[in-house]
Amino acid sequence: MQTWDAITARRNVRAFADRPIPAGDLDRILEAGRRAPSSQNWQPWDFVLVTDRPQLAELSQVFSGAYHVAQSAATIAIVGPSADNPFRRAQFDLGQAALSMAIAAADLGIGSCHAGVADMALARRVLGLPADRDWVILLSLGYPADRPLTPVRNPKRRPLDEVVHRGHW
Ligand SMILES: Cc1cc2nc3c(=O)[nH]c(=O)nc-3n(C[C@H](O)[C@H](O)[C@H](O)COP(=O)(O)O)c2cc1C
Repeated sequence: MQTWDAITARRNVRAFADRPIPAGDLDRILEAGRRAPSSQNWQPWDFVLVTDRPQLAELSQVFSGAYHVAQSAATIAIVGPSADNPFRRAQFDLGQAALSMAIAAADLGIGSCHAGVADMALARRVLGLPADRDWVILLSLGYPADRPLTPVRNPKRRPLDEVVHRGHW
């Protein structure tokens, strides 16, 4: 896909086909996250790639909104640091890494969906996280079960004129 097509085709996919993602494609998605920008280039993230079906099923229990993880071909746990500055820059940085990975996935025709984590103790156990890491966001991945990714003509978004203020509010 061209960059614009990947940006406009990306949507949150929560139902995945029973089809594995080639290892090289997973590596490319992870590499997109590694290349994301971050405050002072501190790169506060670590990525845990999960592809084992029973482990995915267990991981999906960390939050009701993470049910799609169970059926995903792979899920990347994006792990953040415990310590941060007052601007909470890590949240922004991990968000940038997540979106870079989602767009790289879309470029390969692979759907993705973000999920939060409510039961951090369970996530820690399933992922084997060290003690100095205490938050995680999940990005489930897989080929869409419904229809292939193509540019979304009318996304459910506020109109551009309402969102954009030119020069002043
Ligand atoms: C910070 C954040 C948390 C999210 N948490 C969840 C979640 O727990 N479960 C889920 O299914 N989707 C989650 N989403 C996905 C949003 O629901 C999705 O981005 C939004 O509905 C737009 O979807 P679209 O890009 O397909 O139009 C989250 C997105 C963000 C940015």
